[in-house]
Amino acid sequence: MFSKETYIQRRKELKQKVGKGLILFLGNEETGMNYRDNVYTFRQDSSFLYYFGLDVASLHAVIDVENDQEIIFGDELTIDDIVWTGPKEPLSEKAAKAGIVNVKPSGAISRFLKNAKSLAQTIHFLPPYRGEHYLKLQEWLQIAPAAAAELASVSLIKAIVSMRSYKSAEEIAEIEKAVNTSVDMHLEFMRITLPGMTEKQVAGQLQSMAIGQGGDISYPIILTVNGEILHTHTRDLIMRDGQLSLCDAGAETAMHYCGDLTRTIPTGKKFTTLQKEMYEIVLNAEESAIAAAKPGVLFKDLHTLASTKLLEGLKAVGIIKGDPAEAVAHDVHTLFFQCGLGHMMGLDVHDMENLGEQYVGYTDELKKGTSFGWKSLRLGRALEPGFVVTVEPGLYFIPTLIDRWKAENKLSQFINYNKLESFRDFTGIRIEDDVVITEDGHRILGKKLAKSVAEIEALR
Ligand code: GLY
Ligand code: MN
Ligand code: MN
Repeated sequence: MFSKETYIQRRKELKQKVGKGLILFLGNEETGMNYRDNVYTFRQDSSFLYYFGLDVASLHAVIDVENDQEIIFGDELTIDDIVWTGPKEPLSEKAAKAGIVNVKPSGAISRFLKNAKSLAQTIHFLPPYRGEHYLKLQEWLQIAPAAAAELASVSLIKAIVSMRSYKSAEEIAEIEKAVNTSVDMHLEFMRITLPGMTEKQVAGQLQSMAIGQGGDISYPIILTVNGEILHTHTRDLIMRDGQLSLCDAGAETAMHYCGDLTRTIPTGKKFTTLQKEMYEIVLNAEESAIAAAKPGVLFKDLHTLASTKLLEGLKAVGIIKGDPAEAVAHDVHTLFFQCGLGHMMGLDVHDMENLGEQYVGYTDELKKGTSFGWKSLRLGRALEPGFVVTVEPGLYFIPTLIDRWKAENKLSQFINYNKLESFRDFTGIRIEDDVVITEDGHRILGKKLAKSVAEIEALR
């Protein structure tokens, strides 16, 4: 945990921003994988962690803004529990470390909220994302699950986004710790990957490093020779010489701050000439977007810049014809770069995504796109000092998508489909770094990680 003052100050600011009513935070529960007591790794809700720091299951918190009350609802361990868990720090002592002195038994929350409702107090809550959240909102506030997301408090969402988006120095230090572990994982990836190994063998070894550092992975590792499959988690292929291996892996610290890096390497010792050429197209797009990252720049414009660089490269290879900028204006890039350039990162790898991408990544004036490609850009708004974002362009040759566009002869004034045919099985390349926006520019977080062709081949 950070010091108690951090949490007290955050709640004070939140109360000022929300102004009135009761704020209800639903902490997360343990979740059974295949029966109740065989649980997934516990993950606390990130906003709960941000305001209360308590990494313990089955807690809820209420902030009564007008009456300036802050209450944690949760139970101390019974002797029956201690038989299985061993003794633990009492909840009241833990809560005191977050500056909370008022701890009530979990059974008391239902009556507390009922009373607030009868007094016609506004009850603010966040959009639910777990089954247990829906059930609690139904039981305590009589909100039907189908209506819960819509009834979530927009003023609370906006207040939280306006705080969590700006990372403090102590948060950036924690994020950098996560990035450094992620760098170590990627160095291991570059050192141990050999033709004949399975994707799982390598991914398993990297995951153990994240756990060994005292935290965990910040999302399921993507480790694949089919880099064009954006979020593949099957990892059941044998890696072969001549193929590219893409690894998108990040650690989260014990305090749950995240890292998120991607590197693409030759499975054998060297890139082929074509792989090297294509890799350098993505590298140029990534480095150009990072170089342009500074306060005031729309992340949406960085996405356009990276997309233009990708198409300039593909023009040199002969896949694209015409003016690359004009081609981007026609969304030609979405055939090769179907996702977004990046996202906010913090306590969640896609930070605050559960609060809604429109609220986190856009503004009242700047709406998120709805068309193919643009709808996957999670962040569009102007960058500000303290934002931590990923920059992760890629080239993805998805045979089914190529076939679809080719059959429609789509945008054929820009696409040389005959040439593209020879790239059907090229697979995919992504390069991803984590960046903090500073007062006058940006800084790439973490230890330097091999990225150029020469640096990667030196490690192979
Ligand atoms: N690791 C998922 C992403 O890069 O967004
Ligand atoms: Mn990633
Ligand atoms: Mn990412």
